[in-house]
Amino acid sequence: MQFQSKLADIPTTIFTTVSRRARELSALDIGQGFPDFPIDSLLSEHVTAAMREGHNQYAPMTGVQSLREAIASKIDATYQKSVDVDAEITVTCGATEALHSAILSLVRSGDEVILFDPAYDSYEPVVNLAGGRCIRIPLTAPLFRPDWERVAAALSSRTRLVLINNPHNPVGTVWTRSDLDELARLIRDRPVAVLSDEVYEHVVFDGQQHESVLSHPELSQRSLAVFSFGKTLHATGWRVGYCVAPAGLTREFRKVHQFNTFSISAPTQQGIARYLEAKPEAWRNLGAFFQHKRDYLCDALEGSGFVIKRAQGTYFQLLDFSAISGLSDVDFVERMITEARIAAIPISPFYTGRHGPRPRLAVMRVCFAKREQTLQSAAERLREFASRLADDATVSDIATT
Ligand SMILES: Cc1ncc(COP(=O)(O)O)c(C=O)c1O
Repeated sequence: MQFQSKLADIPTTIFTTVSRRARELSALDIGQGFPDFPIDSLLSEHVTAAMREGHNQYAPMTGVQSLREAIASKIDATYQKSVDVDAEITVTCGATEALHSAILSLVRSGDEVILFDPAYDSYEPVVNLAGGRCIRIPLTAPLFRPDWERVAAALSSRTRLVLINNPHNPVGTVWTRSDLDELARLIRDRPVAVLSDEVYEHVVFDGQQHESVLSHPELSQRSLAVFSFGKTLHATGWRVGYCVAPAGLTREFRKVHQFNTFSISAPTQQGIARYLEAKPEAWRNLGAFFQHKRDYLCDALEGSGFVIKRAQGTYFQLLDFSAISGLSDVDFVERMITEARIAAIPISPFYTGRHGPRPRLAVMRVCFAKREQTLQSAAERLREFASRLADDATVSDIATT
């Protein structure tokens, strides 16, 4: 049978591609964003207990009541914001489903969505499935800050949504309150909603504070904010996230969510709710925890030849290899996997999706949500690879002189 693909130009994600190569070559994979250390045993005990007690049938479509209450308390404690447990919180299958349901509920055929390049790879395909078009505005190296003049110029009568990601994967920047003020000012008189991907809300470093749209008086009225227990509780495989939005937006969101996943794993929700009740401070030291890992890796790479500007947030670090090699990021990573048995994620695939050329970049992303021994052996392999390339360059310099 012949049929036309709806996402003809969408390749397999770079995460799948790199992880497959890493497995094929038994390489150490510090590319994809997941922890390699265990979750808190109290958390697994609560989920196991919930299963044993028989919480094994469909959960409510909106999410288990006790989990939504725990989420509301968490938001109150973190952002001093009171949200309606019944009308404003929906538990989802990871942040991925929340993003998907939010985009499908708001974007219609012909609508435009403004997002910032580089962007997490799930955004654009969903906008395209909804019949919309992404207008991608570059965050330019080395600071990767939003250019508000370009955002102002990109806004049009077709703009339905601005999609932001703070703290930002892959560049690791953290937005300031004045960034949110600027965004609010630009869309004030327009029928434009904000979809705010805040899955790394607690992973912010060096004394900085995460500015959530939930604590912004104007933006909170028109935003869907998306969070992930996968990231916050180190349990990415459990696929539990949530979306917080004013009642009107939540109503629209749930119209899609109910026919998308309908509801999320019941014992997992019960277990997380009980865990948060027992340990309401569980996420409080996440910033310090990951800052230590960031510094461990960056210190171990001092003098290696990689140019490093330490991430402000997220558990990703960019490594600039322009001083080591003239290869493109995709070629550099492929060579690194093959020759040094270590995998990272090139960042050019996070740029410009289907429409237009990808920039030639000498930057790759590594994930430091790993045990110290993993980070140590990653640093050793990265250093060795860098010095081998430097030696190669010297040999070819000699050869050509
Ligand atoms: C920026 C960003 N948004 C969303 C997600 C997806 O989160 P989840 O695993 O909860 O679906 C990720 C996962 O890596 C991410 O980095």
